[in-house]
Amino acid sequence: MQSRDEYHHTAAIYDLLFSRSLRGIRYNICTFITHCRARNVIDLCCGTGEQLQMLSKEDIVLTGVDLSPSMLTRAREKGSRKIIYLEADASRLPLPDASYDGIIISLALHEKTALQHKAIFQEACRLLQPHGHIIIADYSHPTSGLSPLLLGKIVVPVIERLAGINHYHNYRDWMRNGAVEGFLARENPGKSILISSHFQGCIRLCAASQVKESPLQASLKKIQANSPKTEQPSFIFPMKEQDSD
Ligand SMILES: C[S@@+](CC[C@H](N)C(=O)[O-])C[C@H]1O[C@@H](n2cnc3c(N)ncnc32)[C@H](O)[C@@H]1O
Repeated sequence: MQSRDEYHHTAAIYDLLFSRSLRGIRYNICTFITHCRARNVIDLCCGTGEQLQMLSKEDIVLTGVDLSPSMLTRAREKGSRKIIYLEADASRLPLPDASYDGIIISLALHEKTALQHKAIFQEACRLLQPHGHIIIADYSHPTSGLSPLLLGKIVVPVIERLAGINHYHNYRDWMRNGAVEGFLARENPGKSILISSHFQGCIRLCAASQVKESPLQASLKKIQANSPKTEQPSFIFPMKEQDSD
């Protein structure tokens, strides 16, 4: 899918740039996975392994997959022996069907072409156990207001442009095609839910499952239906709002 290490230069500074700002999203992913009682979790496009490192305190079997040797070197340097790292293409994995009950794809889909992100998601569906969840954090359209607009229309596009021209074109297509919600509406044959919003809606954390409605999703829906309508979703868990960090 990729012929060279696109993250060769970024790997050394990735954590320095994003570790702090992504902490709220990573925390919510951990909370969701813990509440789902997932036991076997894989992070597709795991990058420097920050998310898996955070999960490593839990009693979960953890695997990370990434195409970039430089990002994986950073991940392995973090030193958790319980995490297995694979250098592989997340759209074609040498792993058996239905082998994970938690699959994370965090901030990776928007930078791929439509064909590529579709292939990665289909591979995630193949790997998912029937009652498991695919947890996706990715760009979305911000809520209304001046500062969300500045973030969504200026700050994020500038960051994406700095990441490279192909990356930027793919990000633009992602946003034009309905961002993370549009992607899930098109590609997920099962049920999708919103877990939390971050950076004033510029990033949303969602969970997809193959069943029409898991018990967890049913209770989340019930709670959301009974709570007063607010701009942000109501949470079933003590989730962290990144914006208020
Ligand atoms: C923006 S980083 C996100 C890293 C991490 N998920 C996070 O939340 O910080 C995107 C990562 O996806 C990886 N990647 C891109 N295409 C991939 C593919 N086809 N298979 C596996 N990893 C891929 C890149 O090497 C990079 O590490």
